Amino acid sequence: MTSASPPSSARATASTGSVPAIELRGLSKVFPGGRAPALDTVDLDVPRGGIFGVLGPNGAGKTTLMSILGGLLRPSSGSARINGCDVFAEPEAIKRVLGLVPQEPAIYPTLTARENLEYFGRMQGLSGDHLQTRVAACLELAEMTEEADQRMERFSGGYKRRLNMVIGLIHEPEILILDEPTVAIDPHSRSLIHQRLRELDAAGITILISTHYMEEAEMLCREIAIINHGKLLVRGSVPELLALGRQGGIELQLFDDAPAELAGKLKSIPGVREAELSGRRILVASDQPDQVVAPIMQVLLADGIKVRSLGFGGARLEQVFLSLTGDQGAPL
Ligand SMILES: Nc1ncnc2c1ncn2[C@@H]1O[C@H](COP(=O)(O)OP(=O)(O)OP(=O)(O)O)[C@@H](O)[C@H]1O
Ligand SMILES: [Mg+2]
Repeated sequence: MTSASPPSSARATASTGSVPAIELRGLSKVFPGGRAPALDTVDLDVPRGGIFGVLGPNGAGKTTLMSILGGLLRPSSGSARINGCDVFAEPEAIKRVLGLVPQEPAIYPTLTARENLEYFGRMQGLSGDHLQTRVAACLELAEMTEEADQRMERFSGGYKRRLNMVIGLIHEPEILILDEPTVAIDPHSRSLIHQRLRELDAAGITILISTHYMEEAEMLCREIAIINHGKLLVRGSVPELLALGRQGGIELQLFDDAPAELAGKLKSIPGVREAELSGRRILVASDQPDQVVAPIMQVLLADGIKVRSLGFGGARLEQVFLSLTGDQGAPL
């Protein structure tokens, strides 16, 4: 695990196996009128192959980072390289290898699913039979073959996101960047997108994905970078990040939503380091979980709160994330 500075790397030529898929050096972005940098001297290497997650709360700088990688936004300083090529100096070389799936679906609502794919395929230089083969393959990947000739404005958000994803795949890129591809969609579409990402990973595609969903990051990603206020806070594998939270988590499921004031009451129990409420779920971090269970239950009983289940476990990624990005900023 590293905090901010990756090792310097040999970067002689593009498509050399040893060159990281993505290299950011001192990458900063200050928007005109912005009070603080949206990105602040970010150094990051994303290795070739595997799914790499970018986690951060709203406004952390995830979209800014991905927009720079996609060549849509110029940084204020620093550099971004893909396959060893500078994003802004060699845009044509990058266009061939990079697929970008933006946070807001970039599709034409009055065109059909097929017409959208044809349009974006032509933008990537595809034509003739090859274009039609790729359009058919992408419709299949999105499970939209039957709906191919319906206008996109008729579809739900889940279908739009599925099409948005496969538009990024139309030219068979070797690096795919997805900005929150599963936000606010139905479970079937989400699970389909997860399945496709695993298949692409198995096929050797490098994937950079931003997400708000901890379980998605835990499940899919080989490595994760956590950013907040434009800064890279930490980068590591899921087990390495979990180790930051040390051992000792208790998870309680309630029958009803936990009242907000409960967090303070639980945190005042000696031995409890942190208590996070999320709907009907409570996560408690403690170095002596067996010692704090009884006092926790007493607090809940005194407030008439009914417990559906209680389990012990190590720290969850969510706890580590909240600890690193929360207002307190204190480690768990
Ligand atoms: N075009 C812009 N002009 C001015 N400020 C901007 C612009 N785009 C983003 N910002 C600011 O830059 C910061 C980072 O925004 P960004 O969209 O990259 O965050 P994010 O991590 O993608 O957030 P979210 O999870 O909400 O998508 C925020 O403070 C945002 O308000
Ligand atoms: Mg964003």
